[in-house]
Amino acid sequence: MTLGEKTLRHGGLLKEGARAMDGRTALLELFHRWDSFESLIPMAELRQGLSGLTLELNDVIDCTIFSDVAYQRVLIHQSTAYEALVLCWRSGQRSPIHDHKGSICAVYIIEGTATETIYAPSPCGRLFPAHSRSAGPRSLCVSQDADIHQMGNLQPEGRDLVSLHLYSPPLSASRIYSIDDTTLGGHDVLSASRPQTILSEIRVDGPHALSPKHPTRVRQVTP
Ligand SMILES: [Fe+2]
Repeated sequence: MTLGEKTLRHGGLLKEGARAMDGRTALLELFHRWDSFESLIPMAELRQGLSGLTLELNDVIDCTIFSDVAYQRVLIHQSTAYEALVLCWRSGQRSPIHDHKGSICAVYIIEGTATETIYAPSPCGRLFPAHSRSAGPRSLCVSQDADIHQMGNLQPEGRDLVSLHLYSPPLSASRIYSIDDTTLGGHDVLSASRPQTILSEIRVDGPHALSPKHPTRVRQVTP
């Protein structure tokens, strides 16, 4: 059963003088609006729609599923133009490093604090973690297409993260990266094969010496 099927029918929900919509009803109104799109929903539209929400955990509580093994992805609504998922993360759980090839990804934080790390390509071919940021309740994280990132719940044990993810169009060609694609690849090998330090003091009587009085250059390998 989808979130939409469990709730009130659309139409006539808000009348003049009626109290403000609760978060769940506002979300369903948004889905109703977005269902009229046939293909890609523009990023500005996703931003505007999500930033107007005030979602609390209770608004999606029946769509939350947690696992101690990995974060869980719960599909709550979909159309040809987009899909909406509630993601549920225990402390320490993270997504793989990935992109959203061909799709816009808009994330609304419902409960807890998410940490997003953005990866960028380097000239040597490896991805490097360019920056990280934390996002609390009602924050938005928007990325698209070839943007590469990793999300996770780095809060202390016992603190859950619940986030709403909109993908437009629905994800179909997203790529997951290996740690070996990044500058973190082979890190433990780096520790074991740390190079020795080579002493090669620079002296004034080197190849471009100004004075011949000093002894010749010393080259020494230390263990
Ligand atoms: Fe993502």
